[in-house]
Amino acid sequence: MSEAGATPTSFTPRVFSGIQPSGGLTLGNYLGAIKRFVDMQGPEFETIYCMVDLHAITVWQDPEALTRNTRELCAGFIAAGIDPTQSILFNQSQVPEHAQLGWLFSCVARMGWMGRMTQWKDKTAGKNAEAASLGLFAYPALMAADILVYHATHVPVGEDQKQHLELTRDIAAKFNHDYGVDFFPLTEPVIEGAATRVMSLRDGSKKMSKSDPSDMSRINMTDDADAIAKKIRKAKTDPEPLPETLDGLKERPEARNLVNIYAALADQSAEQVISDHAGQQFGQFKPALVDLAVDRLAPISTEMARLMNDPAEIDRILGAGAARAREITAPILRKTYDIVGMVPPPA
Ligand code: TYM
Repeated sequence: MSEAGATPTSFTPRVFSGIQPSGGLTLGNYLGAIKRFVDMQGPEFETIYCMVDLHAITVWQDPEALTRNTRELCAGFIAAGIDPTQSILFNQSQVPEHAQLGWLFSCVARMGWMGRMTQWKDKTAGKNAEAASLGLFAYPALMAADILVYHATHVPVGEDQKQHLELTRDIAAKFNHDYGVDFFPLTEPVIEGAATRVMSLRDGSKKMSKSDPSDMSRINMTDDADAIAKKIRKAKTDPEPLPETLDGLKERPEARNLVNIYAALADQSAEQVISDHAGQQFGQFKPALVDLAVDRLAPISTEMARLMNDPAEIDRILGAGAARAREITAPILRKTYDIVGMVPPPA
């Protein structure tokens, strides 16, 4: 056992999560991730939130668009309630330890593990997987590094990231086992709340996504009040009234989705929403959802637009966040190199 790993490790309660700045934040990103990041700010945890630009370029990103999207995502975080003096807010490429630990984890993780990732399979389904970037395949090793380079203990994400977080635990466990240390924590996924999987407004069997060809399928965080109202009014539903209990929504995915969205926006449980609105037709429920969504979302899009008028201030926030991040990542990477047996620079 190396000296570095010999001391029993205790881990500070620390939250890490990331979002790709690949353009077009959706209501799914907001309810499944950002809103919950805001809720986790507070005395219980150190909170670290990252714009994962190195992940975004695993598929082609126009350089100017990447810059703009990174700033817009930062504006989205702040407009939604992330306080950059409390949470650490930064873009991944400014903290080189992510990529450095990512390489080590590429040597810990196995090809078979990566090949079993459903996101890899979905992204290459029906396409020529040979033509996908090597980075897209290795993506989850970098994601594990994002988390473990902070020794993060909790990672709030939407349901679609669950498998990647299981892999993160596998990588931590294999590293600890291979080197005979207790160095990396087995991080807890935090997949909670009414909207861990927000579905398309046009098809209740598909995830709401920025890559859906139909703009009517999603609410974008930059949509104004009129666009939000129109998309909810036109959302696919069914002719039945809302039932008395959630069980009655089992075979009604579109209806269930709108109830979940309402619940998450109102900070209520889906059970509460159903009991308050039982018996209502969508002609009644949708206007209530429009009012709630506009009330909660329109101020965020207005604030995002205001923040985007001062890109220099956004860049200052990202730079300051990266400097704070490196105070945590540099010692953890140094210790990891030591465990692995890399010769350090002379003192
Ligand atoms: P990304 O950028 O695709 O999505 C960011 C976050 O939004 C959540 N999300 C949703 N939640 C509910 N319903 C939806 N329809 C929906 N769409 C997206 C995602 O679950 C995610 O929490 N691999 C990650 C980024 C990442 C990361 C990390 C996350 C890189 N490193 C380390 C956590 C920790 C991704 O592509 O998320």
